[in-house]
Amino acid sequence: MADIRSVGVVGGGQMGSGIAQLAAVHGLEVWLHDSDAGVLTRAHQSISSRIQRLVSKGNLTKEKGAEAIRNLRCTSTLDDFCSVDIVIEAIVESEEVKKNLFAQLDKIVKSSAILASNTSSISITRLGSATNRSSQVIGMHFMNPPPVMKLVEIIRGANTSDKTFNTTKVLAERLGKKIICSQDFSGFVVNRILMPMINEAFHALYTGVASKEDIDAGMKLGTNHPMGPLELADHIGLDVCLSILKVLHSGLGDNKYTPCPLLVQYVDAGRLGKKKGVGVYTYG
Ligand code: CAA
Ligand code: NAD
Repeated sequence: MADIRSVGVVGGGQMGSGIAQLAAVHGLEVWLHDSDAGVLTRAHQSISSRIQRLVSKGNLTKEKGAEAIRNLRCTSTLDDFCSVDIVIEAIVESEEVKKNLFAQLDKIVKSSAILASNTSSISITRLGSATNRSSQVIGMHFMNPPPVMKLVEIIRGANTSDKTFNTTKVLAERLGKKIICSQDFSGFVVNRILMPMINEAFHALYTGVASKEDIDAGMKLGTNHPMGPLELADHIGLDVCLSILKVLHSGLGDNKYTPCPLLVQYVDAGRLGKKKGVGVYTYG
């Protein structure tokens, strides 16, 4: 089994920056790329300050913290990914955009490298078909926020090899995660179950069943969820939730996945959740 020493992360948003932090803290060399230079600068700043916070809380030694920051390199060009052992893609949840990226990466990275996607819902088999290495394409689905959440969902495409699966599993475990395996069907396990709940919470709000606060308190206090479903949707990003529901709807062909009109309207209005300061709730 190949030993992973270096990781390329594409996308410096919520998920990519968290994955890059996790990999750097666990002693891997990390290249982080985003097409938006401003995002890349902000990602570097927030990862550095989160690592410093781990040091100040005593969760990481000063030396390990300094090493983690040294391990992280941000780059505006994908050409710097030529020597990495694995790429973890965490860009926008769009099949077309991800396929273009996978085709591009296929030409840049070394022949042994794995191309992993952090997609929430999109077919790994189809992402693999955009490359000439479908046996080395896999789903490696971290949960938000990646440094905190314990799970990685691993999804094998139709052509993913045992070697790719085993290497990815060992990497996830090295990053301190428990893994579950899912077949390659839209939304896999977690989002197939989570997104209908979030959508139903929007329907409850849309049809006036209760206030947003009462819907969230009902699920937090009534079922011991750490966040209510509407608060969680803001945490994930309403645009991300909508994209996932659209994939579930088209992939599984059932009207129960039709996105609630209120969710669609919020996204149309740019109310994308906590990352934009406004979603279901407003953040100060
Ligand atoms: N990056 C790194 N660390 C973070 C973080 C981030 N973005 N956000 C919070 N943390 C850390 C904090 O630093 C803190 O650590 P310390 O205690 O060491 O300081 C710890 O997490 C707890 O944070 P807070 O005290 O600020 O807040 P909290 O106790 O309310 O926890 C939470 C925050 C972990 C997000 C918690 O509310 C929670 O578990 N919520 C549910 C999250 C969830 O369900 N995620 C999965 C969504 S589904 C998904 O991800 C799949 C998909 O495809 C959409
Ligand atoms: P985000 O909007 O915070 O970040 C996405 C980043 O990708 C942006 O910074 C954007 O500039 C960049 N980007 C877009 N196209 C690019 C390209 N072609 N090349 C390079 N960079 C590009 O999104 P996110 O919430 O971090 O989600 C990223 C991925 O992770 C999605 O596939 C999403 O479904 C998945 N995911 C999200 C969550 C979540 O809770 N938000 C959880 C698990 C998985």
